[in-house]
Amino acid sequence: MDSTPSTAYPPLAGDLSVDVAVIGGGIAGLCTAWELVQTGQTVAVLEADRIAASVSGYTTAKLSSLHTLIYAKIRRSFGPEAARLYAQSQQQAVERVEEVCGQLGIDCELERLPGFTYVESPELVDQVRAEVDAANEAGLPASFVTETGLPFPVAGAIRVEDQAQFHPRKYLLGLAEDLSRSGSQIFERSRAVGLHEGEPCRVTTEQGANLTARSVVVATHYPVFDRALLFTRLEPRRELVVAAVIAADRDPHGVFITQEQNTRSVRTSPYQDGQRLLLITGEHFTPGTAEVSERWERLLTWTEERFPGAEVTYRWATQDNSTTDQIPFVGPFHPGAKNTYVAAGFGGWGMSSGVMAGRLLAGSITGQELAWSQLYDPRRLHPAREAGPMIKLQAKAARHLIGDRLRPSHVDSLDDVSPGTGAVLRVSGQRCAVYRDDSGVLHGVSARCTHLGCIVHFNDAERAWECPCHGSRFDIDGSVLQGPANKPLEAARLPDQSNPQE
Ligand SMILES: Cc1cc2nc3c(=O)[nH]c(=O)nc-3n(C[C@H](O)[C@H](O)[C@H](O)COP(=O)(O)OP(=O)(O)OC[C@H]3O[C@@H](n4cnc5c(N)ncnc54)[C@H](O)[C@@H]3O)c2cc1C
Ligand code: FES
Repeated sequence: MDSTPSTAYPPLAGDLSVDVAVIGGGIAGLCTAWELVQTGQTVAVLEADRIAASVSGYTTAKLSSLHTLIYAKIRRSFGPEAARLYAQSQQQAVERVEEVCGQLGIDCELERLPGFTYVESPELVDQVRAEVDAANEAGLPASFVTETGLPFPVAGAIRVEDQAQFHPRKYLLGLAEDLSRSGSQIFERSRAVGLHEGEPCRVTTEQGANLTARSVVVATHYPVFDRALLFTRLEPRRELVVAAVIAADRDPHGVFITQEQNTRSVRTSPYQDGQRLLLITGEHFTPGTAEVSERWERLLTWTEERFPGAEVTYRWATQDNSTTDQIPFVGPFHPGAKNTYVAAGFGGWGMSSGVMAGRLLAGSITGQELAWSQLYDPRRLHPAREAGPMIKLQAKAARHLIGDRLRPSHVDSLDDVSPGTGAVLRVSGQRCAVYRDDSGVLHGVSARCTHLGCIVHFNDAERAWECPCHGSRFDIDGSVLQGPANKPLEAARLPDQSNPQE
């Protein structure tokens, strides 16, 4: 975000008609819009805030078809042909970015290099060997190695050639410019709040403008207008990231991930004066359920231990959603959908999957189905494989929906909310989410999440309200930071602190 200009596309001010409306200006939405324009469609993108500034603006952007240990899982659950289609579709996305950069002259710091999934504990080496076998069978150039280029020993790793890393905003801003040049339109600060499915479809924005289109793609990260109850099959996961400067000769030259230690992922990117910026992630948790500050400490300590002397310059958190069978939802929105499509559930791999989604959806909308369309079709449901994870997800949401209402507040009165902190407490019989800013002023909003009514929790490290049920996030004034919620938390009236009678 710091190394690219901000954008200022106008909001949708009046009614408009196009071939395809794309809701959401992240990697999935922008790639879909761009691929559609290549097929001759007129497209309008509606973005609630600013394009490429939500998850896709805060990602780590390893562009890879090696997704931790996915191939052995897919082979076991869906068979070797499904694993082959997954590998082909994801690797084609890696190649597509290079091709498009060449075609449009986008300099997005694209670097080709090997990808690794490593383990440090010898007991997990068999899992890595199984992944090497499955990835090879799926058609990827994979091998088992014990040397990775990382500055610490590993017990084993899968190495896959021809992977990549890039600057996602530089790529997406390049696509957006080309979209505008081609006569398509991008509208920012234009939140879609209504979707009428018909022939044509109609999308209504918060400001009341109508966008009419033959087809609509919902690429809002967690889907809004969820008519297929996809929320029962999507699990949000928030994760911390640190960026730290190292000298160029300490660059491990690869993209790395391990499922151990609450996930660690490492890549580098070009930085000032020929230095490299390490991007390290890990410490994932369900939004609204964790003590975040101590997780920061763990990640910072790991960075210092593994890359001594690396100077931390940035840190942030962001989140992604996984499906209950680990394969993204890309395709028709719901069983009855004729002209509406969705792209979601990228499970931490939305760079390649977002690019893949663009081609898949452009193909489906223009009648050119790709070989892997069925694999990603959201209408699939494999009760035997998905029942366990779905039940677990719903039990967790139900526990919060009911349990959090019965639980007493951990503070008794507004006076107990100290500066810089937030708490949920009853005010005039209503559950309120109350935050006291550093100057002592209280800010109150309803604590009921506008998605399905769970009670929000305060994230102390990011000063935001988070819903533990499906991961919606709200600013302290109640505005939506992250879906599935699409409406702000209602304002709450707090007693006037200067008036003891209230
Ligand atoms: C810590 C972390 C590291 C990651 N690293 C990698 C990596 O190395 N490689 C990789 O492949 N993937 C990675 N991912 C995953 C990847 O970043 C995501 O899967 C991807 O960015 C999601 O893209 P998206 O387009 O679906 O969502 P977003 O980028 O969030 O875009 C969705 C857009 O929709 C907009 N929107 C929401 N509601 C509305 C509405 N009602 N109307 C209009 N617009 C709306 C939002 O404002 C947003 O701009 C990582 C994820 C995390 C959390
Ligand atoms: S995100 Fe679903 S109830 Fe809050």
